[in-house]
Amino acid sequence: MNHKELALKAREAQSGSYSPYSKFRVGAALLTSDGEVVLGANVENASYGLSICAERTAIVKAITEGKKNFKAIAVVGDMDDFCTPCGACRQFLAEFCRKDFEIVLINSKDEIKILSMDEILPHSFGGEHLK
Ligand code: THU
Repeated sequence: MNHKELALKAREAQSGSYSPYSKFRVGAALLTSDGEVVLGANVENASYGLSICAERTAIVKAITEGKKNFKAIAVVGDMDDFCTPCGACRQFLAEFCRKDFEIVLINSKDEIKILSMDEILPHSFGGEHLK
């Protein structure tokens, strides 16, 4: 699956968003090493702080289905510009994604931007620091 195809899957995932408060639908498509795609969307709550982002939804779905090796995640939001993962999602992605993992972003003009984990979360803290 190429970057564009994965990004289009993220657009598809936006339809699963539960976002009555922000009305900002975010979709994520997580590509596993086996070529499977796990979709996620943001799920909000009346107690706003409990809301979960699309990226974390996708990771939680995959991990709990026994999928633990990932190549890339595509993210798209209801905005013209590229929707980059929030700080909490960056830390969450770092836990499960190797250095060569790709973050694939698509804007409303269908332009694609690829970022690495190091670019979105430099100097990250991880399990290796706890040994
Ligand atoms: N959101 C995501 O799902 N992912 C992001 O990368 C940015 C923000 C969600 C959280 C909330 O439901 C809504 O977008 C507005 O912040």
